[in-house]
Amino acid sequence: MSADVTLIADTLEQDAARALPGLLERSYARYSNFTVAAAVIDEAGRTHYGVNVENAAYPSGTCAEQTAIGAMITAGGSRRIAKVLIAAGSDAVVQPCGACRQRIAEFASEACEIVSVQGGAVTQRTPFWSLLPQSFGPRDLD
Ligand code: THU
Repeated sequence: MSADVTLIADTLEQDAARALPGLLERSYARYSNFTVAAAVIDEAGRTHYGVNVENAAYPSGTCAEQTAIGAMITAGGSRRIAKVLIAAGSDAVVQPCGACRQRIAEFASEACEIVSVQGGAVTQRTPFWSLLPQSFGPRDLD
């Protein structure tokens, strides 16, 4: 990555990290009270946000990452994920659940990172593919 591109990527990440704590207030976590907000940064440099949306029929609830991926696809443009930022209302580090790992894998770039956000700041980075090695994905159906 060139110095300019790295600077832009860092700025996008910082902006998204700062936005997540405010977004937690929009989470609909009526049943678990566990609020989660996520930001997906695509390879074109656009950021897409999501929160968890629970449901009285519990399995029908959606995770924040899922909502953010839906926003990315709905927005059009790049469908390659460079980073997924995740913040929880508990302020703990939350890694994506198993189902969300599969959802992220569908669109993740080779260098995709999971970025943990606490108090509006980045506290941990995890290479996405270390969380889902030897996965089943689009290539298996080609
Ligand atoms: N949740 C997410 O939104 N993302 C995760 O990565 C982990 C869990 C949500 C689902 C549910 O609404 C609540 O957190 C408690 O599991």
